[in-house]
Amino acid sequence: MYNAIQVNKDTWWTGVNDRETDLFESLWPLPQGVAYNSYAIIGTTATAAIDTVKGPYLDEYYHKLIQALNGRTLNYLVVNHMEPDHAGLIAQLQSTWPGLKIIGNVKTVPMLKGFHGITENIITVKDGDTLDLGGHVLKFATVPMLHWPESMVTFDSSTGVLFSNDSFGGFGAHEGGIFDDEKNPARWEDEMLRYYACIVAKYSNIVQAALKKLGGLDIKNIFPSHGTLFRKDIKQVISLYDKWSRHEGDKGAVVVYGSMYGNTRRMAEAVCTGLTHAKIQDVRLYDVSRTDPSYILRDIWKFKAFALMACTYNTQLFPPMEALCSKLLSRIPKNKYLGLAGSYSWSKGALTVLQEFAAKIKLEKVGPEVEVYASPTPDDLKQCFELGVNLGGAMA
Ligand code: FEO
Repeated sequence: MYNAIQVNKDTWWTGVNDRETDLFESLWPLPQGVAYNSYAIIGTTATAAIDTVKGPYLDEYYHKLIQALNGRTLNYLVVNHMEPDHAGLIAQLQSTWPGLKIIGNVKTVPMLKGFHGITENIITVKDGDTLDLGGHVLKFATVPMLHWPESMVTFDSSTGVLFSNDSFGGFGAHEGGIFDDEKNPARWEDEMLRYYACIVAKYSNIVQAALKKLGGLDIKNIFPSHGTLFRKDIKQVISLYDKWSRHEGDKGAVVVYGSMYGNTRRMAEAVCTGLTHAKIQDVRLYDVSRTDPSYILRDIWKFKAFALMACTYNTQLFPPMEALCSKLLSRIPKNKYLGLAGSYSWSKGALTVLQEFAAKIKLEKVGPEVEVYASPTPDDLKQCFELGVNLGGAMA
């Protein structure tokens, strides 16, 4: 992994694996690390790098890029996205190759100045513009707000490679293989969906528009800037993205609870039993205090139904559940069934806030909505069981 890897004709992977960063964007855990994929295309008349990597990886990136160039000069840098995990080394490249031309779009220009003080040698491209490297004609397509305003993708019409930047990306550093046919899908698909739920999901309607915009291209490979490179079954990976951005879930349910002393946990367990009674095999039970929200968001995106259940804390919703609700409201999942339950002791509050959340997120609610005083009675637990049965029935 310390050498450039040829990934298509005249096309090299010059990316790096980050196994040290604990939190992506200082938010999302990286138990399997993350890869910053970048690429170099060596045409007969010109060369181009597609994005760079995060700043601290300069040495390793340069080693690979110079290997790929094999004595040639770097003529162009295509900046698909300005977030520093890909744009960290733009200024260094310009210092190393002073004639380097930077390709971006009109929204890239102020960011080049703001992040790097770069104002010269910039070529601004629009949708459909091309760049001929000799044997490789690159075509550019903007995908604004996927997931930044300047985001774009680059298509090599000679090889059929789509350099998709964050789109189709996933968490997880490479462990030997970099291609889909070199890895067990079970290893990358969950981390790709977790990346989607955390980073891209808010812009799902824009993903749908982008898929239509790119639909006319004869895409043979998809090389994203994070995670697995796709060359085996392109239709299947596009169909995953289509499914996630249409909010289409699998039959299954996520039950999330916030509980200080175990009473709300017992209610959540009763909901799970009800789901099992309704023959739902995929049931995920999460303690909102102990499970990172990225995993909960991933599974809410994966399945058709979820239940939020929490105790009251100082007359309000239990804080970790409140934080999860805020993350959900900024992503707005659709086409899911939602169950709610709350508990309280000296003051009500949790269920009311969950109901206000449900009114804002506009998902189809499934009852009964259960509100429990102190410790759940057998009748309370029966109602929770019914909530599970009904959530299961709604998915039938
Ligand atoms: Fe991977 Fe939006 O940067």
